[in-house]
Amino acid sequence: MLVPCPTKALNQGLMLILALCTASSLLVQSAPVQSSQPPAAGNSPPLGPADSANPNGGRTIIVGDVHGRLEDFNKLIAELKYNQTMDKVILAGDLVAKGPDSLGVIDKARQMGAECVRGNHDDEVLRWRGYLDSLKKTTKTDFKNEEEDEAKVPEDLIPGSEHEKLARDMTDAQYKYLSSCPLILTLPDTLSPRNAAVYVMHAGIDPAHTFKEQKPWTLFNVRNILDGVPSRKKKGSSWSKGYNEAESKRVQKGAEGHLVVYGHDAGRGLNNQKWSIGLDTGCVKGNQLSAYIVEQDKVVSIDCGKASEGDDGDD
Ligand SMILES: *[C@@H]1O[C@H](CO)[C@@H](O)[C@H](O)[C@H]1NC(C)=O
Repeated sequence: MLVPCPTKALNQGLMLILALCTASSLLVQSAPVQSSQPPAAGNSPPLGPADSANPNGGRTIIVGDVHGRLEDFNKLIAELKYNQTMDKVILAGDLVAKGPDSLGVIDKARQMGAECVRGNHDDEVLRWRGYLDSLKKTTKTDFKNEEEDEAKVPEDLIPGSEHEKLARDMTDAQYKYLSSCPLILTLPDTLSPRNAAVYVMHAGIDPAHTFKEQKPWTLFNVRNILDGVPSRKKKGSSWSKGYNEAESKRVQKGAEGHLVVYGHDAGRGLNNQKWSIGLDTGCVKGNQLSAYIVEQDKVVSIDCGKASEGDDGDD
């Protein structure tokens, strides 16, 4: 079934419509990058930032799951000597939930002009906000003071959850930013020393299908392939294993490779393979926060403060 993709419906978090709608343009959004300079013919490209397709030599920095850990995010940005004029930051999803300052992380991302992709926790907050906004519109009451009728809450939204609280507390500007995060963000192959287009998403893909064919749920939830289908459970075989095998075969046959950079799987930690890089190093569990600098093909990590009490083990 093919239905059009109303932007409004997406903003209200109606994932059913998103799941049914056709536009790959909605699923895959290209990050605006500064125009590329082709490398001088016959010269091997220099190493480091000058290798970048960004004529300023700026960096494209992809950051793993921040989960409301604003202090640790600031520490990572300082460690990277981030320069707003030069560098672009992309957050690999799950900006919010578990940590102490989710809305502060959204504000910081907005101030920085950072890009983002949607994580499963971001999605839960967005769906809550869409639901609350629709109540507000239909009952003309101030939803912040009005208890929603629990009987009407969709069964996949949990009343009293941190996601509901964040959805209620979020300003319109914060909501607008979070809902602007696409499911996949694409970077041109000129940026990466691996000579591959970089696809950023929160969780991963089903390696049995092309990027265009992926289900939204898979993109921000998958961890393993279990009995042949994508699963968020911690058993089965990593989607990235199947993906790397499939991508290597495609490339051997002459196709162009795609480097998938993702977060979500804190259980496996830093997972740097040929065609995929897992960046969730469990900051919210008191481990590390990691960034991948595309032009330098390099990972930078900082140690995070102690585990957040809001961590329920659901990455
Ligand atoms: C950022 O980079 C620009 C351009 O190279 C430079 O003029 C500026 O001083 C840098 N800012 C900082 C804080 O380093």
